[in-house]
Amino acid sequence: MFSIPYLDLPPLQAAAGTVVLPGSKSISNRVLLLAALSSGTTHIHDLLDSDDTRVMLDALKALGCEVVRQPEGGSVSVSGLGGALPVRQAKLFLGNAGTAMRPLTAALSLLASVWGGEFEVRGIARMHERPIGDLVDALRQMGCPIADLGQPGYPPLRLGNGQPAALLLHEPLRVRGDVSSQFLTALLLALPLVAEQDIHIDVVGELISKPYIEITLRLLAQFGVHIRRDGWSRFTVPAGSRYQSPGSIHVEGDASSASYFIALGAIAAGGAEGITVQGVGLDSIQGDIRFVEAARAMGADISGSANALHVRRGSWPLKAIDLDCNHIPDAAMTLAVMALYANGTTTLRNIASWRVKETDRIAAMVAELQKLGATVQWGEDFLSVTPPANVADWRPAALHTYDDHRIAMCFSLAAFNPAGIPVRILDPRCVGKTFPDYFEALFALTATASAYIPVLCVDGPTASGKGTLSAALAERLGYHLLDSGALYRLVGLAAERAGVDTSVEALSTPEGAQRVSAMAAAMNVTFLPGQILLEGTDVTDAVRTESAGMAASRVSAVPGVRQALLELQHRSRRLPGLVADGRDMGTVIFPAATLKVFLTASAETRAERRYKQLISKGNPAKLENLLLDLKARDERDSQRALAPLKPAEDALLLDNSAQTIEESVAQVLDWWEAKRPFHGVVS
Ligand code: DC
Repeated sequence: MFSIPYLDLPPLQAAAGTVVLPGSKSISNRVLLLAALSSGTTHIHDLLDSDDTRVMLDALKALGCEVVRQPEGGSVSVSGLGGALPVRQAKLFLGNAGTAMRPLTAALSLLASVWGGEFEVRGIARMHERPIGDLVDALRQMGCPIADLGQPGYPPLRLGNGQPAALLLHEPLRVRGDVSSQFLTALLLALPLVAEQDIHIDVVGELISKPYIEITLRLLAQFGVHIRRDGWSRFTVPAGSRYQSPGSIHVEGDASSASYFIALGAIAAGGAEGITVQGVGLDSIQGDIRFVEAARAMGADISGSANALHVRRGSWPLKAIDLDCNHIPDAAMTLAVMALYANGTTTLRNIASWRVKETDRIAAMVAELQKLGATVQWGEDFLSVTPPANVADWRPAALHTYDDHRIAMCFSLAAFNPAGIPVRILDPRCVGKTFPDYFEALFALTATASAYIPVLCVDGPTASGKGTLSAALAERLGYHLLDSGALYRLVGLAAERAGVDTSVEALSTPEGAQRVSAMAAAMNVTFLPGQILLEGTDVTDAVRTESAGMAASRVSAVPGVRQALLELQHRSRRLPGLVADGRDMGTVIFPAATLKVFLTASAETRAERRYKQLISKGNPAKLENLLLDLKARDERDSQRALAPLKPAEDALLLDNSAQTIEESVAQVLDWWEAKRPFHGVVS
């Protein structure tokens, strides 16, 4: 997935439909590690495919596990190491995945001590600011040699020193539970590898995020290890524990990711249909499912079935709440954004763990909520949010996401603001950590007035490079692309394939014109990324041929054809926005477009470009002839009665004769910026 600097969400008005959740991050990475440590092969169904699971899979492969991705159904098979250690030395890069860093640190420290291995674990800069010292202390207590390669207490680390080391396991291990529950999870996942005797773990300090420990215990049981526990302060790994693959295992949908869609159902006017969230039910093993209770307290109308939740707007505005969020640390961020739609001040308490997540989430939420116009108070472990007092107090904001997927996802909900202002999400692709298709899923469920959906029109003479420019702009803005020329080419191609006469003479008769117009209206076209299907057949290359272009030029002069394609073109104005390329985009199809660009280049430059293009494809061509053809076509195109080639009155002219494509893109994006409300907004 390419990275884009920002994504502008138009003001959103309604939402309805079904979303299928990606797999849970916490379950996916635990299951991957357990499968790798077990005897036997594990088939994992509905595994999350995201940045965090990718770094875990890469690490497991580097350690000698065989990983096979099944082509269908998204399942992955992992052949376990069965407690052995075929690779004794490796350097592992773990991105910003705490769910990989902590458990691998524990498991590899123990395995390195048993077998005489040496491993380096590191991540991105933020990972090196996330604490791991308490886990390292616990492992050192056991006799594991661990070297700090950076600041003590933080990754990167060297685990083991290449020599076997005796492990001291009769004394109870002590581990802090009040910084991150992942330290305890890491030990629980690793210790069964060396449990020749009962091993006790004592938790020091109040254990936070207990539901994540419950997930760990349940998954351990599925892999044959049954931990005993006394309350939440002592855990015992029984002597003789051994991991055995369950054969196949299913990963639930991510309950934290569900929170955005539950909130969506609670916030958006969606009528009776509401939002169905598929992948988790009310009896999910994930702690964040208790977000449902919090959302209900704020007014959401939620019902559940075995593997799905159904959400509708209940009380509106939402009800402000005051809640201890220790049990739902990740999903609670979604409450902070729901608070923008509440009838008072919402306070979220006991959230100190936010400070050591992907970013300092308390600081981040404070800064970004304030940008939107909310009043925020905060402390070491709480956050209070009061919505903007009046509609006029909402402000257009370019929101930082701090390389934190959850910040990007929860702030997308600000697009429902009553002021009808768009919201800019910076670095939107950071959602790839857990939900690569988040925005696509959001736009599939949401709706807004067509007038709210921005359109950027690019027109210009043939060979001006408007197709290339439009595609580059669409990619940079994360917008859809309408290649209107392709539509006329498709009509030409469909007519040719059906043996319909598209000669100028034939089209000048009422019957001839009627026949191609009917074909245009009935044409079954599917636009896929980089691919065009006509009646189910791939015509991506066929529409680009000279003959399709010639036929397009003739059929596009038929009024009935233009009329037939009108609705198809209007329908391409979809969330989050559109770049429309072609002749009459700014004059006829989208006259109220946000920005219209008329791209030109001297006839000589264009002839040269066309010449190079033809020669590079092995087609014979003569520069002089191309120049004459172009000039004649320009003349004809600007004179023709229907949709002549001429700039819309309010179009900005861009002569790109002396520009690279990047320079043209930068110029148009500058113009675009000036039309957006974020102009001058401090980001
Ligand atoms: O941009 P292109 O070469 O793919 O366009 C093919 C033909 O269709 C060209 O002759 C112009 C015509 N056309 C049109 O009449 N209206 C549009 N909106 C786009 C293209």
